[in-house]
Amino acid sequence: MLTDALARFPRLELIDGATPLEHLPRLSRHLGRDIWIKRDDLTPLALGGNKARKLEYLGADAQALGADVLVTAGAIQSNHVRQTAALAARLGLGCLALLENPLGTAEGNYLGNGNRLLLDLFGCEIEAVANLDDADALLQTVAERLRGAGRNPYVVPIGGSNALGALGYVRAGLELAEQMHRTGEEFAAVVLASGSAGTHSGLALALEYARPGSRVVGVTVSRLQATQRPKVEGLLRGTAERLGVEVPTGLRVELWDQYFAPRYGEPNADTLAAIRLLAEQEGVLLDPVYTGKAFAGLLDGIAHGAFPGRGPLLFLHTGGAPALFAYHPWAL
Ligand SMILES: Cc1ncc(COP(=O)(O)O)c(C=O)c1O
Repeated sequence: MLTDALARFPRLELIDGATPLEHLPRLSRHLGRDIWIKRDDLTPLALGGNKARKLEYLGADAQALGADVLVTAGAIQSNHVRQTAALAARLGLGCLALLENPLGTAEGNYLGNGNRLLLDLFGCEIEAVANLDDADALLQTVAERLRGAGRNPYVVPIGGSNALGALGYVRAGLELAEQMHRTGEEFAAVVLASGSAGTHSGLALALEYARPGSRVVGVTVSRLQATQRPKVEGLLRGTAERLGVEVPTGLRVELWDQYFAPRYGEPNADTLAAIRLLAEQEGVLLDPVYTGKAFAGLLDGIAHGAFPGRGPLLFLHTGGAPALFAYHPWAL
């Protein structure tokens, strides 16, 4: 049903086939609990990550509307902006990005970080902004300005998270459900980072359709659940509406918000320990802003018995490792 609904939407075919679902044997032995990882950090667009999936739908829409420039926004270390700029280059479109410095830092590693360097390589035009508290309004203002100059801009919202972008994670959720089924395992939970919420909303919707009762835990990376919940639930409703389906009544949005302190974009000691653990045990790289915090939540959840039973846990790796270099030597 979801598959048919999804097939009506044009999609750039950036991702050919499924990203790997891998068992992590050394880490599982170390933790005494089976851990699997879905490698969306390996999507084939400019060093990988979750935004490629959203951009498959947003990019197709931009092309259908005859856009000649993609306009988006994010933090200086943004992975979303990196992948959007790469897509613009690939489609032969211009790219303009509004960048904020959420940490207010003058640290050279951060200001000249790897993702920021790549924006220059992709030929993306940058405008620095004081903050992105009202990003949608800022993006619309820039789009107006470009229209006035005879361009045809397409606004990609922060994180690619609107109902159209979230379709990328509905598709990913259906792909993952199939892979989970093939393992023959009864997974206790799927854990992921919940930020601009498109990944969480799309994945939760698809899993509830394909494997009803699946537990999906969103570890927040930028806000407390009082403000994150309406974002996830609103996008769930919007995405379902766009597809012409109902939000299943059994779908429960679960958010853990105790792992993102001190704030968005700044790692804490547990974030760094989680990154180090996965690197040392499996040679897999997490990032300091999203996946390191989400993985720290998964580790703490195991330690505190938050995943009853013995079923394996599945971590959705959404990418971000290029931002590691923004934070070396781990202090801002
Ligand atoms: C590496 C990484 N993981 C997770 C996320 C969060 O995904 P979402 O914004 O869809 O909640 C982002 C968003 O920028 C990201 O770059």
